[in-house]
Amino acid sequence: KNPNFVKIVEVSPRDGLQNEKIIVPTATKIELIRRLTETGVPVIEAGSFVSPKWVPQMGDTPQVVAGMPIHPSISYPVLVPNMRGLEGLQKLLSKYKDGSKGTPPTDEIAIFTAASESFCKANTNCTIAESLDRLSEVTSRAIASGLKVRGYISVVAGCPYEGKVDPEAVGRVSKALLDMGCYEISLGDTIGAGTPSVMEHALNSSLKHTNVSPEYFAAHCHDTMNTGLANVLHMVKLGVRTVDSAVGGLGGCPYSPGATGNIDTESVVFALHGEGYETGTDLDKLVDLGDWINKEIGRNNASNAGRAILAQ
Ligand code: HMG
Ligand code: MG
Repeated sequence: KNPNFVKIVEVSPRDGLQNEKIIVPTATKIELIRRLTETGVPVIEAGSFVSPKWVPQMGDTPQVVAGMPIHPSISYPVLVPNMRGLEGLQKLLSKYKDGSKGTPPTDEIAIFTAASESFCKANTNCTIAESLDRLSEVTSRAIASGLKVRGYISVVAGCPYEGKVDPEAVGRVSKALLDMGCYEISLGDTIGAGTPSVMEHALNSSLKHTNVSPEYFAAHCHDTMNTGLANVLHMVKLGVRTVDSAVGGLGGCPYSPGATGNIDTESVVFALHGEGYETGTDLDKLVDLGDWINKEIGRNNASNAGRAILAQ
């Protein structure tokens, strides 16, 4: 295994778009995924099987997943909040069982909970303990049906309702998610409130509670306070080898007015390559794509690296 390789998890089709008020056409989402496939990113989060009442923008995920072109070496996880979501995905995947429709589009789900009670309630209408119960059943059923499961913890570095978040809470939830069978835990600074040392405390507590190496964790940073890239680089220095990001800096958080998007993939890749890490991605293609998708949805390109490279 190459110790300098950092896996980029491209979350723009899901985290990047989920908060857009105007519904993005299904064809645009599929085109975003198709073009991402050509950039070399190894993981593309394709959508969510969540309640469309809660997140209308993701209501067409079944159509996106069924319509997206897939590449055999890329994973296309989808978010699943409960058994209802897992059953929706499994119904779709069952159509691929006899082989006549080709390869199933995904073999991976992502489950999500939070490190603060108020955020967990706002996002999934339950307590952390209830969400872990719910997700434990989802995870065991998913694994039994051959799916891999990634776990997300939101608000590891700050909560829009509770402010500072206790790193011990992050560590306890990390342990619960790993114990139930997640192969990787993404530490989410959902509102972009973190600084490098705050992210480090969340990671250290997770390492202490789980006794696994930093490679089991991903850095999922939002860039509200302009600390997203510093946080990512610090986590990579600490041994994390998976970074979640979105082309063009797409994204936002519905429960946190003013919170901006995910850290942009273009800046992450530029910085990682500059520091001697490898990502296997093509920066020029990411830059063009970030610019394209922002134009498609009528937003300004939020990627500093993207705008600068385009201007050169
Ligand atoms: P609830 O209202 O408590 O659930 O929501 P419910 O069981 O009462 O269901 C309400 C309605 O939704 C019902 O429909 C259900 O059938 C339906 P009705 O009977 O009223 O017609 N429903 C569903 N429909 C489709 N798919 C489903 C599903 N489940 C129920 N899976 C629930 C609970 C968890 C469903 C809801 O809170 C929810 O969907 N939440 C998702 C919120 C979300 O997607 N947030 C964004 C993703 S997390 C994130 O962005 C953070 C992350 O990026 C990391 C970071 O940045 O930190 C991952
Ligand atoms: Mg996020």
